[in-house]
Amino acid sequence: MADLSTSYMGLSLRNPIIAGSSGLTGSVENIEKVHKQGAGAVVLKSLFEEQINQAVSKTFNQNENNLAYPEALDYISHYTRHNDLDNYLNLIREAKNKVDIPVIASINCVSASEWVTFAKNIQDAGADAIELNIFILPSDPRRKSEFHEQVYFEILQSVMRQVKIPVAAKISYYFSGLTNMALQLSWTGIKGMVLFNRFYSPDIDIDKFEVTTGNVFSAPGENTLTLRWVALLSDKIQCDIAASTGIHDGKSVIKQLLAGAKAVQVASVLYQKGFEQIGLMTKDIEKWMDKHQFATTRDFIGKMSYKEVENPAAYERVQFMKHFAGIE
Ligand SMILES: Cc1cc2nc3c(=O)[nH]c(=O)nc-3n(C[C@H](O)[C@H](O)[C@H](O)COP(=O)(O)O)c2cc1C
Repeated sequence: MADLSTSYMGLSLRNPIIAGSSGLTGSVENIEKVHKQGAGAVVLKSLFEEQINQAVSKTFNQNENNLAYPEALDYISHYTRHNDLDNYLNLIREAKNKVDIPVIASINCVSASEWVTFAKNIQDAGADAIELNIFILPSDPRRKSEFHEQVYFEILQSVMRQVKIPVAAKISYYFSGLTNMALQLSWTGIKGMVLFNRFYSPDIDIDKFEVTTGNVFSAPGENTLTLRWVALLSDKIQCDIAASTGIHDGKSVIKQLLAGAKAVQVASVLYQKGFEQIGLMTKDIEKWMDKHQFATTRDFIGKMSYKEVENPAAYERVQFMKHFAGIE
């Protein structure tokens, strides 16, 4: 029978399907369910750097009396942060107690400020790795791209100074020099790169003239953007890749592995169709491996990467032409 195990960030996974960070991975009950359905690993719901800061200011503003005692701010800020963090650390400890798959903690961050010391507590609580979801919306017209890019390096280096466990960067494709940026990020010593995060996007209600929420969940067709970049980057960067966005079935997992990903992360499909999808995906991969006589995932991971395919230019083609798309 096909061996689905893989190695991602130096961690051994029984199969390449990781339950990605989302609201679903914020409780021990769900983590147990994901484990029961056969996931290779789980990334916990993120602790937000921003969420911590908001919690601090909310508590402080609610009690105006505190303004008479400036030192109260330090106390409240310390207390609120530690309460949030305690809950998160307990989630890690409990998850580690209940399941025997890697548990990856996650932090959404935009700066290398004081929060980075929390990484050490996360390691001490038993997390197998830390994923840093970094995104700075480049909306400030005064800031050049170098300014934003520098923040990524500061965050990764500061966190890696705190911990020994592997660190992954979960990034977006909003870089003008994506290949060079990914390469440089991989040289920092990170062990994994998640390509790509998918963001909350605003929409507009044209009758109510209100800004609303765009599609929260990905659609299966969205996987091709990731696929191109996994294929282009997997031979070049110095760390493992986990593919993310639009992966909804076994076929899509196989494609990402062929392009060179060591693992994939799924979120939307678990919301839309349930945790059982993990089991169905692994069965489909198994069947496909048997059909093509691949005994292990190592036999085909990267088989269709930029370096390996006969016609690598296919991954670089960006404009529609009748000859390639078959449509005038
Ligand atoms: C409801 C929801 C909550 C999410 N929360 C987080 C989060 O806390 N941290 C994070 O890094 N990604 C979060 N994500 C992003 C997912 O981990 C994933 O990168 C993205 O949804 C693309 O994968 P998908 O197409 O399988 O959904 C969330 C996604 C959804 C749909």
